[in-house]
Amino acid sequence: MPRDAHASRMITDPTVLSVLDELYERERHIDWETYPWHADPHRHAATGFSLSPEQGDQLYLLARYGRASNVVEFATSLGFATIYLAAAVRDAGGGVVRTAELVPAKAEQARENVERAGLGDHVEFLVGDARETLAGVPDGIDLALIDGWAPSVSLEVLRVIEPRLRSGALIYNENLDESFIDHVRGEGSGYRSVTLLSGSEYKPKGELAMRM
Ligand SMILES: C[S@@+](CC[C@H](N)C(=O)[O-])C[C@H]1O[C@@H](n2cnc3c(N)ncnc32)[C@H](O)[C@@H]1O
Repeated sequence: MPRDAHASRMITDPTVLSVLDELYERERHIDWETYPWHADPHRHAATGFSLSPEQGDQLYLLARYGRASNVVEFATSLGFATIYLAAAVRDAGGGVVRTAELVPAKAEQARENVERAGLGDHVEFLVGDARETLAGVPDGIDLALIDGWAPSVSLEVLRVIEPRLRSGALIYNENLDESFIDHVRGEGSGYRSVTLLSGSEYKPKGELAMRM
């Protein structure tokens, strides 16, 4: 298979790549225009709503460059982004991704996917409402992914982990949540923040904030 046909241009471990490819293939053909959306997360136990492979690669690169060892994710879903993050943590020398998911059936599928990718030693699953479970993560967070959901809880999740972010920590908000952006760009917020662009049309793909 040509290199570009894989779900990652960063990851070379064939075991990790094969699980990422399989997860990506499951979602690639979904028509989001007609997808039966419902705000109850329990109604989407089989759907990943995963990051794009480009976003996964960006996260891998950021985590590896910063030698992140204390990583937090909202939310796990089926484990697509978790696998990029855990691979980066492992490849950079070790550490743990603590990932929160409300729907137990999704956390279970993610656990299987992470195990099959050979990354089980680098992931801790927190099952329940992230606004509660993430309150217990250890200090010194290096990198956090705050992914999207509607209605969005991005800012609430940020506020929960905020006291545990180390100076220089990066927070990637996938859904460009307006309240998240207002918070991190506000006067005296204690963050600096930039929108990441992606793809040939340079569409905004995420907000990347740094804790000062
Ligand atoms: C966009 S998906 C995450 C995608 C994932 N990061 C990936 O790349 O595969 C959002 C997830 O948030 C979960 N979720 C929604 N509200 C939640 C909450 N309050 N606490 C924890 N998880 C929640 C949903 O069940 C869903 O699986």
